[in-house]
Parts: sequence; C-alpha cells; structure tokens
Amino acid sequence: MTSIYVCIGSGCHLKGSYQIIDKLKKLLASTETPGEIKLAASFCQGCCTEGVVVKINDELIKNVSPDNITAIFEEKVLKRA
Ligand code: FES
Repeated sequence: MTSIYVCIGSGCHLKGSYQIIDKLKKLLASTETPGEIKLAASFCQGCCTEGVVVKINDELIKNVSPDNITAIFEEKVLKRA
C-alpha cells in the first residue's frame, strides 16, 4: 500500500493543492491497481514556502506543481524512474 498525502494547508492551497489532487485522482484511475494506493489530504507539513508539499509514504516532496506531478507519480508511486 502506498499512501499519498497532499498538503491543503493555506500556503499549499494557494499554490494549487486542489489541482494536484485532481490530477492524482485521474492518474490513480488510470493505474491497474488503484486499490493499493491511498490518496488523502493533509494539514500543513511545516514547509509552506516550498509548497505544494506532497508526502508519499514517509518521503516529503516539495515544490510539487500540476506540471511535475505526473513525473513524480510515475517515479515515486509507479517506481518508473
Ligand atoms: S501549507 Fe503546505 S506545508 Fe504548510
């Protein structure tokens, strides 16, 4: 099981958390095993100036944007480097 938490604290919200959640929902729907990936929102992760912040399992990923989320998803979740 892989857990993805997208920060929806005010700093990250202003930088587009919800666009990232939308994109992740579409990416999840296109995977073969969506039931093995949990997508949730989180509160502030403490690095607001580097948002949007996404936590994948125990790894905090900063500066996530709608432009790089697909590559991050493929590398970190699908393990396609
Ligand atoms: S609001 Fe996202 S890290 Fe603080």
